[in-house]
Amino acid sequence: MRFPNNVLAVLADPRTEVKGDLVRIPFEIDRPVYEQLNVALRGMGGQWDGSKAVRAHRFPHRIEEHMRQCIAAGEYPSRYETGWFPTPHPLVMQVCDLAGIYAGMTVLEPSAGAGALTQEIARRGGVIDAVEVDERRADILREQGDCRRVVAADFLTMDPLDYEEGFHRIVMNPPFKEGLDHIKHAISHMNDDGILVAVMSDGLRWWSDMASVEFRAMVDEVGGEIEPLPEDSFAASGTTVRTCLVYVPGYAGGPLRTHGWHRRQPRQLDLFAA
Ligand SMILES: C[S@@+](CC[C@H](N)C(=O)[O-])C[C@H]1O[C@@H](n2cnc3c(N)ncnc32)[C@H](O)[C@@H]1O
Repeated sequence: MRFPNNVLAVLADPRTEVKGDLVRIPFEIDRPVYEQLNVALRGMGGQWDGSKAVRAHRFPHRIEEHMRQCIAAGEYPSRYETGWFPTPHPLVMQVCDLAGIYAGMTVLEPSAGAGALTQEIARRGGVIDAVEVDERRADILREQGDCRRVVAADFLTMDPLDYEEGFHRIVMNPPFKEGLDHIKHAISHMNDDGILVAVMSDGLRWWSDMASVEFRAMVDEVGGEIEPLPEDSFAASGTTVRTCLVYVPGYAGGPLRTHGWHRRQPRQLDLFAA
C-alpha cells in the first residue's frame, strides 16, 4: 500500500519520533492529514495510545528499522492485504502451553508475521524456523533474532522435503483465507509424533465443504480437538473475527501426511532411475 504524499512527508519529517514500538508526531498537523496518517499507521499494525504519558501509535514490535524501510520504499505492507492480525499475548501463552514447547525442541512458525509467537517460543527455548511471505515482516523477524532461520516465501509453495527433518512442534496463526491449506501443508512439515497447534477461523468447526469435513474427521481420528476461542480473543488486534484453536497430535503409523510420511513415499524421479 502506498503512503499518500502528505503522510510520507510527516513520517519522514525529522521531528517525527520513531522509537522502540512507538511512532509519535510531536507537532501540529492538519486534521485531514492526521486522519490519513492514522489510517496508514493502523494499516501497518499500530494502535493509538492516548494516555497522557504516551500519546503515540504503539506497535506490537520494534518499529524503527521497519519504518525506515517503508519510508524509503514509499509503501508499507498493509495488514488487510496479507491478513496480518498479530496473536494477542494471552492467546500466545495459551497456544504455546497447549503445544508443550520445551527447550531444544524444533518449532516451525510458517506464517510468522512480526513474531508474536516466535518471541514466546524462543523464551521457552524452542529452536525456531520461521516463514513469512512479506519481506518486510521477515526483516522484522530477522532483526528480533529469535529464529534459527527466517525464510521470506509463500509457505504454500515450499517443499517439506527441503527440510531434512520434520519439526517437533508447529505453532501457527495463518491467514484465514486459505487457512486450512496452510494447516494441512504445515502437517507435512511435522514429525510423526509431533504436535500442531493453530489459531483458525471458527468456521472450520462447521463449514460443510469436503476439505473441512474430512479435516475434522482426521482430527477426531488422531485424538485432536478443535475448540472455539472466546469472541473477543482478537480484540487487541482490532478485529472481532471469531476464532478456534486446532490441536493435532501425530503418532507413527497414523493417518497424518507428516514429514515422515512424505519421506517414505517413493520419489517420482526414483521410478525412472536406471
Ligand atoms: C494472522 S497473521 C499472524 C502472524 C503471526 N503468526 C502471529 O501470530 O502474530 C498471518 C501472517 O501470515 C502471513 N502470510 C500470509 N500468507 C502467507 C503465505 N502464503 N506464506 C507465509 N506467510 C503468509 C501474513 O503476511 C501475516 O503476517
